Amino acid sequence: MKILMVCLGNICRSPLAEGIMQDLSDKNNLGWEIDSAGTGNWHVGQGPDRRSTRVAHERGVPIGHQVCRQFRQSDFEEFDHIYVMDRNNLADVLAMAPNKQATDKVKLLLGSKEVPDPYYDDTQFAPVFDLIEDGCKKIVKELRDN
Ligand code: 4NP
Repeated sequence: MKILMVCLGNICRSPLAEGIMQDLSDKNNLGWEIDSAGTGNWHVGQGPDRRSTRVAHERGVPIGHQVCRQFRQSDFEEFDHIYVMDRNNLADVLAMAPNKQATDKVKLLLGSKEVPDPYYDDTQFAPVFDLIEDGCKKIVKELRDN
């Protein structure tokens, strides 16, 4: 199973989602491969935002090795599931989907809720970690049971 996590910058939210989901997969011996990407290109080649790296480190999920990249159309073929953080990401990714099979792979990580962008608020990184962790745990249950 290959899963892609997508946000706007690929430096705050989706690196956390990648790290958390990879950790859950590893701990449960699921053998899943997780990656992340941003719809925007401003931070391509950079590591995650230090605030995300710090909260992830505190929770035992290392993400410092990750390198930012932009979402690309070939991701629709490479990945089985594409989880986006908010409705802007959803619209941006769906606008690139070539067909229904691709469209069907794309979902909000939290189902019907959004993961808010913490970029402009240092206090939001810990709650965002918790939201993403809850979402990832639900997805693990969902995908394992199917
Ligand atoms: P992310 O947060 O989408 O969770 O990575 C952001 C990071 C950078 C920017 C916006 C959101 N930015 O505008 O540079």
